[in-house]
Amino acid sequence: MPVNNRIADFHAEITEWRREIHQNPGLLYDVEHTANLVATKLREFGCDEVVEGIGRTGVVGVIKGRQSNSGKVVGMRADMDALPIQEKSDLPHKSKIPGKMHACGHDGHTAMLLGAAKYLAETRNFDGTAVVIFQPAEEGGAGGKAMCDDDMMARFGINEVYGLHNIPGLPVGDFAIRPGAIMAGTDEFTIIVEGHGAHAAQPHNGIDPIMVASQMVSALQSIVSRNVNPISSAVVTVTAFQAGQAYNVIPQTAKFWGTIRTLDPQVRELVHTRLKRVVESIAVAHDCTVDIAMKDGYPVTVNHDAETDFAAQIAKEIVGDARVNVEQPPVMGGEDFSYMLEERPGAFIFMGNGDTAGLHHEEYDFNDEAIPVGSSYWAKLAERAMPAT
Ligand code: NI
Repeated sequence: MPVNNRIADFHAEITEWRREIHQNPGLLYDVEHTANLVATKLREFGCDEVVEGIGRTGVVGVIKGRQSNSGKVVGMRADMDALPIQEKSDLPHKSKIPGKMHACGHDGHTAMLLGAAKYLAETRNFDGTAVVIFQPAEEGGAGGKAMCDDDMMARFGINEVYGLHNIPGLPVGDFAIRPGAIMAGTDEFTIIVEGHGAHAAQPHNGIDPIMVASQMVSALQSIVSRNVNPISSAVVTVTAFQAGQAYNVIPQTAKFWGTIRTLDPQVRELVHTRLKRVVESIAVAHDCTVDIAMKDGYPVTVNHDAETDFAAQIAKEIVGDARVNVEQPPVMGGEDFSYMLEERPGAFIFMGNGDTAGLHHEEYDFNDEAIPVGSSYWAKLAERAMPAT
């Protein structure tokens, strides 16, 4: 596999960083240990600028090439946060913090981009500026948005931006990408049905919110099956249902909530409209009142055409044409790199993690064998986006 030889030399060192980060996970914006490690390393490598505190606890490193004629500035982004999961592992590098673990491989993403930064700061074999972006709070805290809101793109003059995520089940050394929507937009809904509490043995004296809310949960299944075009994609999943606490009481209220995933704005609008209509109509039919709260989540992650071709080309140069799938179907998970792609053209690529436990699973561990592939991808991407003459 033609990974960069100099980066292959760093493999053991990058693996050490990865395991150090793995042992010290932080949730959302509380990633001080990792952010400090990142900033310290970037300074050691001799980055021209290292700025902490972008998007609260994000870190940005600036590496100038040996030429600066192109005026190009390429952003490369990794995420740093972990998940509230108790790690199930006997490995020496398992999490030291109870109830927190790197179950999504962000430890690997951070270490691989650090490895590329070390190489790029040492060689500087490009014409322009490489900006390495380490963001907090990818797992639901919109850390990518927080960094953009701190004016990161304009402040560092970033022209285009790239992201990467590991995928268990895809062999190490394989990449997958697609132009257009690659990951879903995520929205959340919370519904509170107010009925009328009563003795359980006298249902005619009350309005049972459990029965009404149950009808709503069932009816919501018709949105994807009957309203959304079968060729389009959408998910409506109810993830919680809470009501009552006794055997002999009809409660006053029932509450349920869940998530909506869509890949384009029209389908998103349709699902939102139908959800409100279905829930309100069932409430009216049973003389209940209902409160519907919708919360916008991450936007759809949309890859830009030219940058997707470019990213695929870089991957092919490292692992060969046959190992880069350029027709990866979209994934209905969300990703807040989407905010960066709303501000600048760029592309998000998947990289194989081999036959490991799945993302967000208690037995997941980032595959260190993938490190030279990922670090080489970043290094080559910078060098080829801004070729030195
Ligand atoms: Ni992730």
